Amino acid sequence: MSGRPAIRVGLVIVAAGSGTRLGHDHPKAFVELGGRSLLAHALDRLASAADDVVVVGPPTHMEQALAQVERMGPGTRVVPGGATRTGSVAAGMAALGAVDVIAVHDAARPLVDAAALRRAVAAVVDGADASAPALPVTDTLKEVADGEVVIRTVDRASLRAVQTPQVFRAEVLHAAHARGVDATDDLALVEAGGGTVVLVPGSARYLKVTYPDDLLLAEAFLASGDHEERA
Ligand code: C5P
Repeated sequence: MSGRPAIRVGLVIVAAGSGTRLGHDHPKAFVELGGRSLLAHALDRLASAADDVVVVGPPTHMEQALAQVERMGPGTRVVPGGATRTGSVAAGMAALGAVDVIAVHDAARPLVDAAALRRAVAAVVDGADASAPALPVTDTLKEVADGEVVIRTVDRASLRAVQTPQVFRAEVLHAAHARGVDATDDLALVEAGGGTVVLVPGSARYLKVTYPDDLLLAEAFLASGDHEERA
């Protein structure tokens, strides 16, 4: 319990994506890293820092999703996801009990840690409508048009790459989804509604597994051991 704010934290882990870019014939959340699925890693690292946990699984693979969460004991529920990430988050939110803040995490980020969740929750407790871990951008960024023709160089100094878990005041996330817009992350929905989003430090270890090379990098991080706080 040390360091846990006295508020109820709901956690939605979205795991309903197909993961076609990873080149497997089963959903990405079930791809294995060090002998366990990406979903199992994310659950193990975050579940004990939350008061209520919902996993959103691929509608076509619900039994497999249930098998992944069974060992977390009673309390963690599994619901089928939607056609888009936003739809899957909405399905997860609907299954959560009464909570003060909602954390949304991508199962595709298996090497997350509870410290990331706590940092983002603390930012919301301190007054932000939403928060997430993020990293400065290190590559030089170009805006291009058709045919990969460069239009301009974008100043990277003020840009951040945002990770998950993304944490929201519960009523803010519900209001953002009620507007019925679709986005690649939920912070965008809050920004669009004029909410205050404050970023907290992220980590290279919270990488999203999208392509086969990402899995190799995650394996190397896993083999090197955990350097950050666990729940
Ligand atoms: O596709 P992408 O990697 O951006 O997906 C991010 C996260 O959203 C993944 O954990 C994926 O399982 C989840 N997702 C989902 N439902 C969808 C699409 C993506 O739960 N329809």
